[in-house]
Amino acid sequence: MVTGIGELVTCDGTGPDGLGLRTHAALVVEDGRVAWVGAAASAPAADRVVDVDGRAVLPGFVDSHAHLVFAGDRGAEFSARMAGTRYDGGGIGVSVAATRSASDDELRLLLADRVAEMRAQGTTTVEVKSGYGLTVEDEARALRLAAEFTSETTFLGAHVVPPEYAADRAAYLDLVTGPMLEAAAPHARWVDVFCEPHSAHAFTADEARAVLVAGRDAGLGLRVHGNQLGPGPGVQLAVELGAASVDHCTHLSDTDVDALAGASETTVATLLPGVEFSTRSPYPDAAGLLRAGVSIALATDCNPGTCYSSSMPFVIALAVREMGLTPGQAVHAATAGSAKSLRRTDIGRIAEGARADLAVLDAPSHVHLSYRAGVPIARTLELR
Ligand code: NIG
Ligand code: FE
Repeated sequence: MVTGIGELVTCDGTGPDGLGLRTHAALVVEDGRVAWVGAAASAPAADRVVDVDGRAVLPGFVDSHAHLVFAGDRGAEFSARMAGTRYDGGGIGVSVAATRSASDDELRLLLADRVAEMRAQGTTTVEVKSGYGLTVEDEARALRLAAEFTSETTFLGAHVVPPEYAADRAAYLDLVTGPMLEAAAPHARWVDVFCEPHSAHAFTADEARAVLVAGRDAGLGLRVHGNQLGPGPGVQLAVELGAASVDHCTHLSDTDVDALAGASETTVATLLPGVEFSTRSPYPDAAGLLRAGVSIALATDCNPGTCYSSSMPFVIALAVREMGLTPGQAVHAATAGSAKSLRRTDIGRIAEGARADLAVLDAPSHVHLSYRAGVPIARTLELR
């Protein structure tokens, strides 16, 4: 039993921002699942009691978009960007070269460290994409390694066209939708594509559609990188194909917003404000999206290029300060919202039957996640 919970954020859809807040609460965990939630005063007997002494407890963060399987360093690219160079996706090739030459053990260790870093900040579920291998063997390897850490694995062979195929994009697409997909699919739940006409390295709408349709035919769910560097076709394509998520959504037209609002039960707009921060880009209007009826999620996009931060609390603070969300809306988007983008109902909320994936704050309320920005108050609540 976890008791002494000053504020319990259940995300049950009731009350302000759907946070379902309860004060002076307790919960009982059995076999990794929540077995009972209620007032501390009426809690049943339990064989072990953890008293959190008035702290806030919330669903562990669901980081529904991350690229954690990579080697090498791109700090110099970040420095250059802060001095005025624009991000165009070209640096991905640097990470691809470093990742291809790393051993399995090196990559596994890097991955383990990054997942541990996330857990230490309150994240209990992370989606991990491939996309820095871009050969049949290296993409399958990235997904095999990722699957050692999470069930939310995503095949991103269509991240960029690798240099050896620069003169023959069609041949690379045949590879991605053929032998590479076949080798990747057994280790992947999702397929994703970097649909971005504003980058010479990424994929057009037609190319992206071919990748997504092939992935769907292989039994994978759909995710899309879209509308990151400028207005583009990613959102429309994601809605058309019923993708679970379209991510970045930095540049949206009114038509895009209408399409997302109409598809709010199917397609979640995943916002990645760490990317706007790290690429010095304008932030999308998350509050406006909520008003329009769009389902939103927040995630880190942790990757060596556009956001090398693993911190969901940082993302929540940015979303509040820069994207117009209330502290409660941001917490909801980082838990229930991102769970929805992974089509999961067993995480992102605290309810009887849900997984007991919990985060605890050294603070009395979820508001402190953005109020105390930069202070490490969040961690996962380890009960085993
Ligand atoms: O989500 N935009 C495409 N992919 C990543 C960045 C990858 C990189 O630069 O290494 C993203 O921002
Ligand atoms: Fe990404």
